Amino acid sequence: MTQDELKALVGQAALAHVVPGSIVGVGTGSTVNCFIDALATMKDQIQGAVSSSVKSTERLQAHGIKVFEASEVESLPVYVDGADEIDHSGCMIKGGGAALTREKIVADLAQAFVCIADESKLVQTLGNFPLPVEVIPMAAAQVARRFASAYGGQATVRAGVVTDNGNIIVDVRGLKITDPLAMETEVNQWPGVVSVGIFARHAAQVCLLGTPSGVRTLSF
Ligand code: A5P
Repeated sequence: MTQDELKALVGQAALAHVVPGSIVGVGTGSTVNCFIDALATMKDQIQGAVSSSVKSTERLQAHGIKVFEASEVESLPVYVDGADEIDHSGCMIKGGGAALTREKIVADLAQAFVCIADESKLVQTLGNFPLPVEVIPMAAAQVARRFASAYGGQATVRAGVVTDNGNIIVDVRGLKITDPLAMETEVNQWPGVVSVGIFARHAAQVCLLGTPSGVRTLSF
């Protein structure tokens, strides 16, 4: 099976976690695009979606799925999103698509995070994938120096990328994230950091992992 076929498989499988009559939290990325396309087949059974990016909003609306503002809802039963890496406790690195801040906001509204990913995303220790951090532009150099001194990480500004919130992304290489919650907590406090792409406070409860022999479900 190709990686695209694995993504389609888990996008389809996530429909089983959608609560009929509810508003669904929707992430961002190529795997989520498969989920959005699958969700279109049950659009009459849901009220709509809260989206984590302009791209996902456009795709949802193209399917005729109503998109609510995050400020219009108090709680969502489920948030479905992909990951760049996920470990065996459900902690993730996210933000490869630069949507991490809105993803965390929508995930925070949800009672359950359902991660959909192909099996290449499952890792023992987070950090091989460069850690995305959304930063206010004037703080970029300062945040890079802090990563170097605190964690030995090398941060570079992602060229040509401006987030939906008007900020930039720095990608940090050379990290071995053995305590995701501690690193998320610390980096979140550095001035100029809008969000760090570690999802430990908002770890997944379930991961639907696409494998050549079918969907493997991990519960955390
Ligand atoms: C978007 O900012 C990311 O957090 C995505 O969820 C992540 O990069 C996974 O994307 P793919 O499904 O395209 O691999």
